[in-house]
Amino acid sequence: MPRYAHVIGWGCYVPPKVMSNDELAKMVDTSDGWIREMTGIGERHIASPKESTALMAVHAAREAMETADVNPSDIELIIVATASPEYPFPATACLVQDALGADHAGAFDLEAGCSGFVYGMCSAAGMIRGGMFNTILVVGAETLSRLVDWNDRATCVLFGDGAGAVVLRGSEKPGGVIASVLGSDGSGGELLIVPGGGSRNPAGPETVTSGMHYIKMSGREVYRFATRVMASAARQVAQQAGWTLDKVDLFIPHQANLRIIDSAAKSLKIPPEKVFVNLEKYGNTSAASIPIALCEAIDTGRIKPGDKVLMVGFGAGLTWAACALEWTTPKHLAPPVQRTFLIRLRYNWFGIRSILARILRHVDAALSRLREVVERKLPVE
Ligand code: UT7
Repeated sequence: MPRYAHVIGWGCYVPPKVMSNDELAKMVDTSDGWIREMTGIGERHIASPKESTALMAVHAAREAMETADVNPSDIELIIVATASPEYPFPATACLVQDALGADHAGAFDLEAGCSGFVYGMCSAAGMIRGGMFNTILVVGAETLSRLVDWNDRATCVLFGDGAGAVVLRGSEKPGGVIASVLGSDGSGGELLIVPGGGSRNPAGPETVTSGMHYIKMSGREVYRFATRVMASAARQVAQQAGWTLDKVDLFIPHQANLRIIDSAAKSLKIPPEKVFVNLEKYGNTSAASIPIALCEAIDTGRIKPGDKVLMVGFGAGLTWAACALEWTTPKHLAPPVQRTFLIRLRYNWFGIRSILARILRHVDAALSRLREVVERKLPVE
């Protein structure tokens, strides 16, 4: 029997702190008018010093697992798509696995820039369809505010922080992720890059003084690439899915720039009411943009069972990715389930269990050291 990969849970998180265009205009030479006209962005959420990629990913993941009504131990694989990981290593996905108490899950990060979440969904769906795993958590999470040069008006006005997640599960029921398109063109790698901090330019005083740890972007070039690739990837994935574009119920593009979205929708002849746009509130949250949009679209009733949803991302790499999703989640899950105190407690318990495991590991290490000391002082005859 063929297997299908269905979205059974979704969740998102954005930091409470909001930064308006007017606030930005006090920091760099820009204006609310310019930002709105050129990008469509009105404000963005910015992580507090206590918030980071893993933490936001955990919030979104918990919500997705609550909606799906799955236990952390049911998750077999965690994929975190991010261009702003917690550390170069270990993978942010491992930190998420630990915080969730997902003790049966493999975990890895996926770096495909703003296309990362769609790359993750397509990869997870392939693994489910192939029978390798049955339940996979895919997260897109970013704290790009930590990589932005707050003196560079060409980039700092664009990005925001946040996370979104889905739980995918295998079933014999047709639907779910039915077609995928992944693409890359590394010849454009330098068009959107953080040049410092990797093996080419290891972090040091020089990389910091020359600002190599910040995002560098050739906006015009990326814009041209984006308008071209969004439409072509959407056409390709629709064809693979056996859909005509007029049958698409909701188009969820990467939320980078309203002009890019409008141009792609126009070229695909998808009317504005079928295009999901929320970048006015969040800016470009990179790999988190599509899952946050998907989450909002479901929670506001824009997606109904049987709908054909087309998601397209593009970004650093250069990369692009598109996914055709036939929405199959039962009606009772939308609007979102009531997240009661008991449900919250249940999910928090798994997090506490993980902290206890960490404490036990320390205790175990201390006992083992103690044993060694005792054995050295009292050699066994
Ligand atoms: O997830 C992928 C991430 N990247 C993207 O999606 C970016 C795609 N690119 C874009 O969205 C657009 O290129 C931008 C919105 C970033 C810029 O629009 P543009 O039409 O390509 O403008 P530009 O960079 O060519 O700059 C035009 C002018 C320049 O001034 P001069 O040289 O003509 O005097 C810039 O200095 O706009 C100026 N400018 C600004 N002015 C006010 C650039 N940024 C700003 C700003 N406020 N924030």
